[in-house]
Amino acid sequence: MKFEYSNPVQVVFGPGRISELGKLTAGIGNRAVVVIGGGSVRNNGTLDKAVKSLEAARVAIHVFEGVEPNPRISTVRRGIDAIRAFRGNVVIALGGGSVMDAAKVMAAGALYDQDPWKMCKVSQAKPVAPTASLPVITVPTLAATGSEMNCNAVITNWEANMKAAAIYPILYPKLALIDPELTVTVPKYHTAAGVVDIITHVTEGYFNAQPGTPLQDRMAEAVISTAIEHGARAVADGSDLAAREAVMWASTVALNNWIHVGWNAPFPCHGIEHVLSAHYDVSHGAGLAAISPSWMRFVVRRVGPGKWAGFARRVMAVDCADDVEAALLGIDRLEEFFASIGAPTRLSGLGIPAAEIRRLAEDTVRVFGVNGAIAGVPPLTVDDIESILNSAA
Ligand code: NZQ
Ligand code: ZN
Repeated sequence: MKFEYSNPVQVVFGPGRISELGKLTAGIGNRAVVVIGGGSVRNNGTLDKAVKSLEAARVAIHVFEGVEPNPRISTVRRGIDAIRAFRGNVVIALGGGSVMDAAKVMAAGALYDQDPWKMCKVSQAKPVAPTASLPVITVPTLAATGSEMNCNAVITNWEANMKAAAIYPILYPKLALIDPELTVTVPKYHTAAGVVDIITHVTEGYFNAQPGTPLQDRMAEAVISTAIEHGARAVADGSDLAAREAVMWASTVALNNWIHVGWNAPFPCHGIEHVLSAHYDVSHGAGLAAISPSWMRFVVRRVGPGKWAGFARRVMAVDCADDVEAALLGIDRLEEFFASIGAPTRLSGLGIPAAEIRRLAEDTVRVFGVNGAIAGVPPLTVDDIESILNSAA
């Protein structure tokens, strides 16, 4: 094992702690741009709570509204203009992963002398790293991406049909104020998509990893088990705060890179899903639910049962002596779980026609490929991705 790790994000976690936003922000800046999505936080009272707390702490506020799911670079550009016009000195992201990602690029973009798309890495001949950022406070309202405590931002360029990540240490939020009570209003579909995203952040690492990482592997299994058990409860009863709390923390831990140290793993299902989203604007977790079980079966058949048999037995309670059979049964059970919480497990359920599959496979390799394949264990060629997507059709 060889790795380096640091994560500078201060975490403040607990139900009801949105009331502390003003006090916490005042220690960072006194002119806050509050970035929100399409209106959920207006409708459910979360924005009011945030504003009240900020006003009590004498923080001046400008609300930037309208970040869409799969946030667009055009919206990020408008957000940068808004931050500059208001002379904001702190950016608060109040929303799901889309809002948090957009806010990170806006905060860095406000101090960047180029178009913000230049910092998004995919398909850029020469991406230009941001070297400064306004401080960002993340306040997640949906458990899914882990964006609250990582330095990633995923932005869509709709004109180019491309979804690209900006991943730079300068994008780490200063503070993550994680109040699981804010997630009780998330509808079943997005709760389920979030649970699939959490699980896939871990399975991507776990199954594509370098060997010799026993502690990370057991931590990964714990995150998956927690997401399955409490995710099912949160979907069944959105007001179950204990379940929401467990899922929220699982989301943060699944992608703050603590578990991923030493794995050095690529994320092939994410690459494929980002291409689906860039063309069909699907919810990220829903796309993963359709892709990842087919990818798992493809890998077990291509490279053998490896870690999958142990995963099936320990996490999915499969009782079967044969490793290949156990691995495939474990994948079946995971897919059944996705379906049981209402996540679409077929591309047709996402409105993606089978006739488009070859083109999407080609685009995945065009956007993410190196030497004709995207990284993974095993690397995936256009034919491999086509075969995976056909099984998911
Ligand atoms: O826009 P509003 O009105 O707020 O509604 C949102 C949106 O429609 C709604 N929602 C959020 N919180 C709610 C709520 N509705 C009711 N009550 C609440 N408390 O949920 C819908 C989906 O929101 P979105 O932010 O798009 O979902 P998610 O958190 O899954 O984020 C997905 C985005 O994050 C990227 C994805 O690619 C996608 O663009 N990712 C970011 C990552 C990262 N930064 O590390 C990693 C991930 O792998 C992922 O790629
Ligand atoms: Zn994801």
